[in-house]
Amino acid sequence: MTKAPSGIKACFFDAYGTLFDVNAAARALATELGDKWQPMAEMWRNKQLNYSWLRSLMGRHADFWQLTGDALDFTMEAHGVRDAGLRQRLMDLYFNLACFPEVPAMLQSLKRAGLITGILSNGSPAMLEAACKTAGLDGLLDHVLSVEDVGIFKPDMRIYQLVTDKLDLPASAVAFHSSNGWDIHGGKTFGFYSIWINRSGQPQERLPNPPDVILKDLAEVPRVVGAAA
Ligand code: LAC
Repeated sequence: MTKAPSGIKACFFDAYGTLFDVNAAARALATELGDKWQPMAEMWRNKQLNYSWLRSLMGRHADFWQLTGDALDFTMEAHGVRDAGLRQRLMDLYFNLACFPEVPAMLQSLKRAGLITGILSNGSPAMLEAACKTAGLDGLLDHVLSVEDVGIFKPDMRIYQLVTDKLDLPASAVAFHSSNGWDIHGGKTFGFYSIWINRSGQPQERLPNPPDVILKDLAEVPRVVGAAA
């Protein structure tokens, strides 16, 4: 297995799709949404990200919670679903997403090895706080950094810089993990040691600066960064 060079001091993680299962909200309502839950979950996620990039380019920032609601409204209309109660339940579920099963033990291994742990996410501080609490990750993360401190979304380089500014470490001392291919190219461009968590077997993005390592989930992360044998 590929091992990161020694000198990694901190491990940072993207939140949505990487630590937290973004499809869990629509999946929880599969009985009501029927066959639509999967295409709706996919469109909801794609629109949410598209809006983050478009607003960044337009210079019209709004926080990720608003974008999540806007993306859901578009998705519901596109699928002919009109139900204010259902919308509210989907938003509530998104606010309190579960984490992927391997996350707590993986973070515990990193902490035991003395590594600094953190989140770097588009999510608003309130969303991230709620998700960490629901998933029981509170004590396992040293830092939870939100783009709201800058007011633009990833992959703007100023967002990745939040980590190095906060820790006063060079980018090469940080391992960055994301399930989003575009985000991992962003982190690598900034100079992080970059680990792509390719959960859904996606082809590699045709963007500059590919990841150093590709894993299918987060379970092997402690081994890659030297926190486990
Ligand atoms: C995040 C999105 C990009 O958590 O998944 O930043």
